[in-house]
Amino acid sequence: MALLEVRNLRIRYRTKKGEVHAVDDVSFTLERGEALGLVGESGCGKTTLALALMRLLPENAYVLGGEILFQGRNLLELSEEEMRRVRWKGIAMVFQAAMNSLNPVYRVGDQIIEAIQTHQGDAFSIEEARKKVRELFELVGLNPRRMNDYPHEYSGGMRQRAVIAMALACDPAVIIADEPTTALDVIIQDRILRRLDKIRAQLNMGVIYISHDIAVIAEVSHKVGIMYAGNLVEIGPTAEIFQNPHHPYTAGLMSAFPSIRGEKRELTTIPGEPPNLLTPPPGCRFHPRCPYATAVCREKVPPLEVFEGEHRAACWHPLNA
Ligand SMILES: Nc1ncnc2c1ncn2[C@@H]1O[C@H](COP(=O)(O)OP(=O)(O)OP(=O)(O)O)[C@@H](O)[C@H]1O
Ligand code: SF4
Ligand SMILES: [Mg+2]
Repeated sequence: MALLEVRNLRIRYRTKKGEVHAVDDVSFTLERGEALGLVGESGCGKTTLALALMRLLPENAYVLGGEILFQGRNLLELSEEEMRRVRWKGIAMVFQAAMNSLNPVYRVGDQIIEAIQTHQGDAFSIEEARKKVRELFELVGLNPRRMNDYPHEYSGGMRQRAVIAMALACDPAVIIADEPTTALDVIIQDRILRRLDKIRAQLNMGVIYISHDIAVIAEVSHKVGIMYAGNLVEIGPTAEIFQNPHHPYTAGLMSAFPSIRGEKRELTTIPGEPPNLLTPPPGCRFHPRCPYATAVCREKVPPLEVFEGEHRAACWHPLNA
C-alpha cells in the first residue's frame, strides 16, 4: 500500500462563466521518504490538486470523481471531524506565497506554538510546545534565539523557513510545498530546498514539491510529474523524464531547460498558450499546440500509459518510445 495514492481525481470550479475543468483524471502514488515534483505552467491545476489533498478546496470547487487514498483510507469519504485528524498531522502543506502570511503583530515562535496547540489540542503544554518550536527552528535552519522576533525582523528566506517549520509542527507523514521558494533569490531557494530534502530523508516523509519551474525542483525530486491544462501528462523517475521524455509537452519543457543546473528560465519556448479550462479542447488537451497532432489526438483523450517501469505518459504518438 502506498503512503498516498491519488486515483483518477477530477475537480471542477463553478463560476459565472461555466465550469472550470481544473483537474482531470490525475493519478499518482507517493511512498514514505519519496519526493515527487509536480511541474506545469500557471493555471494547470497544481494548487487545486494540492488543496484537494488537504481537503481545503474553496467553496465553489467540487470533486467530480476519483479517490485520494492516504494510508489506505479515502480522504474524500471522511467526515470533517475525521479529516481534522489527518490534516496537518497526516498531510501538511506550505501554501503558495505562505511567507507573506505570517501575522505581523505576533512573534514568529508564538505563531508556531499556537499552530501546535490548535492542531494537537491538549497534548502539548506551553512549555512542551516551546521546546518543540526550538527543535523545529533547528530542523529548518533557523536560530532558536530568533523565536521571539517579529516577522518583519526576518528576511524572506527566514520567513519561508518559519512557515516550513509551522507545516512540520505536527510531524506529518506527507508535506506538500506549493511553490515554496518562488519569491526568493536562486541561492536562497536552493538552500531551502536542500534543507527540506534533508528533513525529508531524516523524518522519512513523503514530499510533493510544486513549481512552474522544473529546474528548481529537479535536483530534490526522485520523480517528476508534468501537468498540462488539468491533466497529468507524464510522470516518471526524474532522470528519465529529462533524458527520455515521451510526451511532446515534456520534451518542449526540456528544450526550454537545456541544463538542470542552468539559469532559471520561464516556460515560454513552446508556441501558443494553454487552453481556457472553461472549454478545454476535446481529445488531447495539448493538440492545438502540438507539432505531432493527428486526427485521433483531436478526438480521443490519450490514457496515461506505462512505458518502462514507473514511467508513464499520455500521448497517442509518444516520442522516443
Ligand atoms: N477559486 C477558483 N474559482 C474558479 N476557478 C479557479 C479558482 N481557483 C483556480 N481556478 C482556476 O482553476 C485552474 C487551475 O488553477 P490552479 O490555481 O490550481 O493552477 P496552478 O497550476 O496552481 O497555477 P499557478 O502556477 O499560477 O499557481 C485555472 O484555470 C484557474 O483559473
Ligand atoms: S496525443 Fe497527439 S496532440 Fe497530444 S501530445 Fe500526443 S501527439 Fe501531441
Ligand atoms: Mg498554484
